[in-house]
Amino acid sequence: MAKALVIGNWKMNLDYVEAVHLTQQVAALLASRPAERVDVALAPPFVDLRSVTSVLEAERSLVTVAAQHVSDRDNGAFTGEVSVAMLKRLGITWVIVGHSERRTMYHMDDASVADTLKAVLRGGLNAVLCVGEDLATREAENHESFVNHQLVSALSGVEEFAERVTVAYEPIWAIGTGVTATTGQVDAMMAAMRLQLASLGFSSSRVLYGGSVNADNAAEIVTEAGVDGFLVGGASLKAESFGAIIHACDDCYAERR
Ligand code: 13P
Repeated sequence: MAKALVIGNWKMNLDYVEAVHLTQQVAALLASRPAERVDVALAPPFVDLRSVTSVLEAERSLVTVAAQHVSDRDNGAFTGEVSVAMLKRLGITWVIVGHSERRTMYHMDDASVADTLKAVLRGGLNAVLCVGEDLATREAENHESFVNHQLVSALSGVEEFAERVTVAYEPIWAIGTGVTATTGQVDAMMAAMRLQLASLGFSSSRVLYGGSVNADNAAEIVTEAGVDGFLVGGASLKAESFGAIIHACDDCYAERR
């Protein structure tokens, strides 16, 4: 059965006490109303990871955990960094690689995204590669070639790990702005990305959408835009809205059968 994937990217929100609370709420919500057709993951800040995995273990929840970033190095004198092996030891399943906030605010260029992706995949974890254009690129109608270039640059040389790669299309102009891409815009980009992914050997990869997804627009996007799920920011910080997005995907996948 093909399943959707919904990941809550908490970004730099929620300390470990708040993280425990929200994790318990999400686990309880999914225990009372399971979403069998959706894989669900939470991506808390590094300092919350241990608490979140402990709560999910205690609750025997199927929800998995993602890190928001990782170092491309194995170990050593890299102050402030965290390695793939450290995440693996904590029971982390996924790592988000190349989020636009890392690319734009922390100078993560294409080469460093590619190195990080390699480190994650060689280290045995699953990667969620983020791509997406800014507003100027969209207005100049260069968005498809821009995203295609990001895909080629990150994915060349890691074809052997294709089954552990998920891609998230997050147009920068839609992130945290309340401006969601239209279903037509998302659908067109999904089609372009799937073509490029197939030519690179990643035809089995799930492709997610992210950018102002919320409880009100999730059903329409997943039904009309051919996405395999969502990477959710703001709306993942409340169990109720995150749960509504998960259930919108579950309902849509139930009808696709
Ligand atoms: P918002 O859902 O807050 O727009 O954030 C999207 C995002 O960046 C998820 O990674």
